[in-house]
Amino acid sequence: MTPRGRPMRADEHLDALPHPVRVELESLFDPRYLIHRGAELERILKVRSALDARPPLRAVEIGSNTGAFLAGVGRDPSTTTLGIEWRAKNVVAAEERIARRGLSGAMMLQADARLALSVLVPERSLDAVYVLFPDPWWKTRHAERRVLDVRFLRTIARRLRDGGALYLKSDVFDYLYRVRSLAEASRALRPLPAARWPDERDWAPSTRERKCMSTAIPFGRGYYERHPAFDTTLPTEPERESDFVGAELPVVDAESIIRGPAPYDREALARGRARRRE
Ligand SMILES: C[S@@+](CC[C@H](N)C(=O)[O-])C[C@H]1O[C@@H](n2cnc3c(N)ncnc32)[C@H](O)[C@@H]1O
Repeated sequence: MTPRGRPMRADEHLDALPHPVRVELESLFDPRYLIHRGAELERILKVRSALDARPPLRAVEIGSNTGAFLAGVGRDPSTTTLGIEWRAKNVVAAEERIARRGLSGAMMLQADARLALSVLVPERSLDAVYVLFPDPWWKTRHAERRVLDVRFLRTIARRLRDGGALYLKSDVFDYLYRVRSLAEASRALRPLPAARWPDERDWAPSTRERKCMSTAIPFGRGYYERHPAFDTTLPTEPERESDFVGAELPVVDAESIIRGPAPYDREALARGRARRRE
């Protein structure tokens, strides 16, 4: 709202953002899209004030749906994990779940995650960005609608702290392979060494992950850290897809990265079970 109580227009919100953030947004969106995003920007900026009063924001989940995964990470009251979901119905369901369980470490925002991450999250501030089972957009001609493209991967990489990581899971292996190639092309992310994959026993499965597990649908992981040579300063000129991706994406050894090790130490679990039987 303006001081006179009039709702602010999208261009006024945009003008109020720091110049480098506007440049980054111009990398991610056609300005004709941004100009219609006044209400969404307003919600995002409100959350920015709400976040100031909470434990530090350390993780973001993109596409939280009804918050099944967020409910697990949100149990830690010492930090805030922000779930970003653009469907209002899902956000209401996730907020109800958070309230029901009294999860003080979780918060929801209804917005396009690409817009929100850029506007809300400072550089080098996150330990984790989770993108779990993103919409696959199966058809090749729709592949560009997928949330993770090369410019958004760079946006995410700028928000990761040293030691932070992007955690992607999908049952669409083509998506995982593509992101592996895009990460290489982005020059901003590289695969997280298998030895540093997290112990996922504390993670609650997302809705899609639970479905995959109960119906034996195979899925894979693509876990990434910021490339040490990547400069996290926000861009001074809008970035273009063609600055990074030519006619062909780099060919990478995706297979070994995506299959990776088990998400937790199976041998240690087996040793524990054997000890208990003794
Ligand atoms: C296929 S569902 C997966 C949901 C959940 N992560 C899971 O594993 O069950 C993808 C979710 O991401 C949301 N979504 C897609 N693109 C988004 C975007 N750009 N910003 C915010 N949410 C998005 C959709 O509304 C949907 O709830």
